[in-house]
Amino acid sequence: MNTFYLTTPIYYVNDKPHIGHAYTTILADVLTRFHRTAGEDVFFLTGLDEHGQKVQQAAEQRGVAPKHHCDEMAPRFLELWEKLHIQNDDFIRTTEKRHVEVVQKILQEVFDNGDIYEDEYEGLYSVSEERFITEKEAESGEFRDIKNIKEKNYFFKMSQYQQPLIDHINNNPGFIQPEHRKNEVLGFLKKPLGDLCISRPKSRLNWGIELPFDSNYVTYVWFDALINYVTAVGYNVHDPNFKKYWPANYHLIGKDILTTHSVYWPTMLMSAKLPLPLGIFAHGWWLSGESKMSKSLGNVVDPLDLIEEYGVDPVRYYLMREMVLGQDASFTMESFIKRYNSDLANDFGNLLSRVSNLLNKFFEGKIPKEEDDSPEGIVIKENGIKVVAEVWDQIETMRVNDAIESTLQFVRSVNKYMETKAPWKMAKEDLNATGKVLFTAAEALRVSAVLLDPVMPNRTKVVLETFNAQGSGLDWGGLTPGNKLNQHDVLFPRIDVKKLKKSNQTESKSVSPSNVITFDEFKNVDLQTAKVLRAEKVDGADKLLKIEVEVGDEKRQIISGIAQYYTPEELLGKMVVVVTNLKPATIFGIESHGMLLAAKKGKELTLITIDGEQVSSGMQIY
Ligand code: ME8
Ligand code: MG
Repeated sequence: MNTFYLTTPIYYVNDKPHIGHAYTTILADVLTRFHRTAGEDVFFLTGLDEHGQKVQQAAEQRGVAPKHHCDEMAPRFLELWEKLHIQNDDFIRTTEKRHVEVVQKILQEVFDNGDIYEDEYEGLYSVSEERFITEKEAESGEFRDIKNIKEKNYFFKMSQYQQPLIDHINNNPGFIQPEHRKNEVLGFLKKPLGDLCISRPKSRLNWGIELPFDSNYVTYVWFDALINYVTAVGYNVHDPNFKKYWPANYHLIGKDILTTHSVYWPTMLMSAKLPLPLGIFAHGWWLSGESKMSKSLGNVVDPLDLIEEYGVDPVRYYLMREMVLGQDASFTMESFIKRYNSDLANDFGNLLSRVSNLLNKFFEGKIPKEEDDSPEGIVIKENGIKVVAEVWDQIETMRVNDAIESTLQFVRSVNKYMETKAPWKMAKEDLNATGKVLFTAAEALRVSAVLLDPVMPNRTKVVLETFNAQGSGLDWGGLTPGNKLNQHDVLFPRIDVKKLKKSNQTESKSVSPSNVITFDEFKNVDLQTAKVLRAEKVDGADKLLKIEVEVGDEKRQIISGIAQYYTPEELLGKMVVVVTNLKPATIFGIESHGMLLAAKKGKELTLITIDGEQVSSGMQIY
């Protein structure tokens, strides 16, 4: 039997999961459901990355021990996976004994192979990225918390594997996908590859796996985390499960962790003399507006809120359909509702209610005897057979969004067929012909539901139950004539668009051309009081200050061009006015979320400030 081993990244437990984490996990779930349907022996792994500085810091901030923090966070991920109907086969946590043992075993092997050496290193270290960075990177302004560090560490001879890795990538065209990511990695490998610092002295970080050959150090979190992929299938050449599933068919990842997966990991495996994964697939980012959705920017969408409001299937559907696999996609409530109303309510849901209403009305709720043998009916049948092959081909080539669109196009063609045939009119003249049309439409709907089942396991079940066709496969002809229909609820009730408008005031509205704005338009600008907590100069930009303000409960970072008017110290504690719903922008490599209001004339500039006993940050300004 063919095996199919698929992994997601193991997510950091420094915060609760967001839509980006949900996306990769749903994608893995959809792919593995398809592969299971095809009869493959599937292993689907997800889990949590629990060691390292980020997690230690998150725990410190909450004033709890790191392990305690992890134990509290893990259920939040598990709860979300359950709500999203994720059917993973294993859930690994890197603090588990099985993993610690494998990491130490591999470290020892790589050490014994002579691929780890000790060295003193002095350099710039980014705390947020948990790695040494170059001077150039430090100047880019993209890294926060940079320290100069000099210490003894252990290094993995990654450089030795540079050429073998390049050869492997060139000889295995599917190894890094999509193509443009492969080229990115090959471009990166044109420069000499350095060795990898794989240790952290316990004096600086103790939340990690101890090096088996030096108890003063813990393992660098990435050297630890990547190994989870072999731990979970029983890394141990004698374990039959390991032989069966390794190498993995795909590591699914976001493009943010491409280098660690396609450079660190393969060279680690080469050193440990293990086969490389067959494929690494990096998808794009969910953006909020134009910036990456990420916890540190505070622009994340909580999947639980969406599920609560619209149900799990529409959330899965939207994420899978809206993102072209491999590219970035922008998450907006507007596009969510549009997809929901057009694809799910109008096309798919409507077909079910039409067919079942007509069968109830004219055929006592029973599936008619025969299918339609008119030319139009035969086309539907032929397309119903073709679409299955097409979808499978798209799934195998990782084009999930295309596979969904193929199915929906088929659904739309069936709706057209219904309109052309108009069985509700036909019924008055020729009941037999009407039955044939409804049979064909119902069968086409059944096939569509089976095709959409990996994406929307809940609602497609309702369709299949309506026709008593649970467990039927993708072959045309799965309906049983004479079967009685079951009642069903409205598959996807339409969403009222007005409701959305109220909840989504951050979208910019066009201003009327006459320069006059309505009160409502003015109210679209969200002005609030904010207190300056910190301010500093932006290196290399004499006009800019990086300012941290408190707006009510929230903190945000704003880049403002006022360095010639105010020193950072002067700003501290000032109560200013901020446009809070301005689209985030990147200025000098730094994210800016909002702007400060100021009065300006000629060369004079004064910030608008408010004082008074009643004034606190986060007050609305009209
Ligand atoms: O990087 N859009 O964990 P992490 C799409 N622990 N996907 C997103 C996303 C977004 N805006 N944000 C996150 C780590 N993701 C390491 C991984 S693996 C051995 C160790 C998804 O919690 C995407 O899959 O930062 C991304 O690669 C992953 O979450 C990063 O999760
Ligand atoms: Mg990350």
